[in-house]
Amino acid sequence: MLIHLLPGVAIGAGALLGLASADRVTPTSVVLTVLLVVSGTGVPPIVDRLRERAALHTEHAEQLRGHFRPSGRGVLPSSLREGSYFAGRTQALGELTAWINGEGPDVARSRVVTGAPGSGKSAVLGRLVSTADARTRSETPTAPDQVLPRLGALGAALHVRGRTVDEVAAEISRALSLDETTAGGLLARLRDARERRATVVVVDGVDEAADAHRLIVDLLEPLAAAAGRTGIRLLVGTRPGAEDDLLRLFAGSARVVDLDEARYLDRRDIAEYVRLTLLAESDPQITTAYRSRPGLAASVGAAVAVRSGRSFLVAQLTALSLMAAGEPVDTSSAGWQEAFPATVGAAMERYLQDVRPGGPWLRDLLMALAWSQGDGFDDPRTWAAAATALGTDVYSERDVTRLILR
Ligand SMILES: Nc1ncnc2c1ncn2[C@@H]1O[C@H](COP(=O)(O)OP(=O)(O)OP(=O)(O)O)[C@@H](O)[C@H]1O
Ligand SMILES: [Mg+2]
Repeated sequence: MLIHLLPGVAIGAGALLGLASADRVTPTSVVLTVLLVVSGTGVPPIVDRLRERAALHTEHAEQLRGHFRPSGRGVLPSSLREGSYFAGRTQALGELTAWINGEGPDVARSRVVTGAPGSGKSAVLGRLVSTADARTRSETPTAPDQVLPRLGALGAALHVRGRTVDEVAAEISRALSLDETTAGGLLARLRDARERRATVVVVDGVDEAADAHRLIVDLLEPLAAAAGRTGIRLLVGTRPGAEDDLLRLFAGSARVVDLDEARYLDRRDIAEYVRLTLLAESDPQITTAYRSRPGLAASVGAAVAVRSGRSFLVAQLTALSLMAAGEPVDTSSAGWQEAFPATVGAAMERYLQDVRPGGPWLRDLLMALAWSQGDGFDDPRTWAAAATALGTDVYSERDVTRLILR
């Protein structure tokens, strides 16, 4: 008898754990689950649903913790920093917040946030995701109301790096409490559904999906096109693709927010970001030679920003390299402003040398860089291919731009 009951008890315990972490659980579901635990009978459908919800909750929490939250705080996911270093982007945040909250022009059309590598797409999306969530909004205490989306307005936030179309469809389905596992299934289900579900689904890193082209054509564009009827609007983050080909695939279904455009980029934001990073005021445990030297941090921040162009990534890597140096920059030496890296390749090289010395991957990437004879690599794919050809392992663009750095 006891042996007979054990599976039921275990399942029930799992379900209760699921209940503890699930977002929306009704009193009826609690009572039903407890009854089934006590009686030791088979697995009721509610237990499966609760398990699924718990899995979704975990998945969501991981993407928040590993991607959206650190990006939105302006730090690398591997960083020990706890404070928020997000700077500026008020125009983009203001427009996107109004759109999320259902205000302003073209409200029914989805949005695609784009820009060059490291321009800050994930940071903007991460900031919106964090501030729309009651559990994480307090991480951004200084945000004015016009950049605060309605709590709970974002129904799901997915980072789709390396994911297939059906994996993404299945995750969106789960977030919508549907049980579809393919893009075709999800679209058909939504086509047949009568009720609207007014929500926004965030999908970041589309260019890095297993097949970005298919993901857009088979799932995201049709979803975006149906937004008027379904109420489900997309907030996408993607690099534009070669000759903007990824953007083009959305055709008229989405409006593009290009963070590199002058109206969205205030270069003072980048200077401010470097200043905040160097000072590390909200992280007293961090060692920085710029602590309590706001004037120095501001002038170095301004000079780094000039060299970094439109790239928060270049600015960030440079700031971290500067901090690793121990001594602050000597601003009395001639031409000190010109010494900072101006490309992602150069900034990475310096970061790898100063902040992350050691390891075969480092040798491989630096060797590839050395072979480029000082020109660096504008395209991370070229760098990855060179490192693969010359080194000890196979490297991808992602290794270069993210995995190694984060
Ligand atoms: N406005 C900002 N304030 C503070 N930090 C920022 C800001 N924008 C970007 N960053 C930081 O700069 C780094 C690069 O930005 P991010 O990863 O958002 O770029 P991206 O455009 O998503 O790049 P990719 O094309 O590689 O996905 C991140 O660590 C991010 O947190
Ligand atoms: Mg990104």
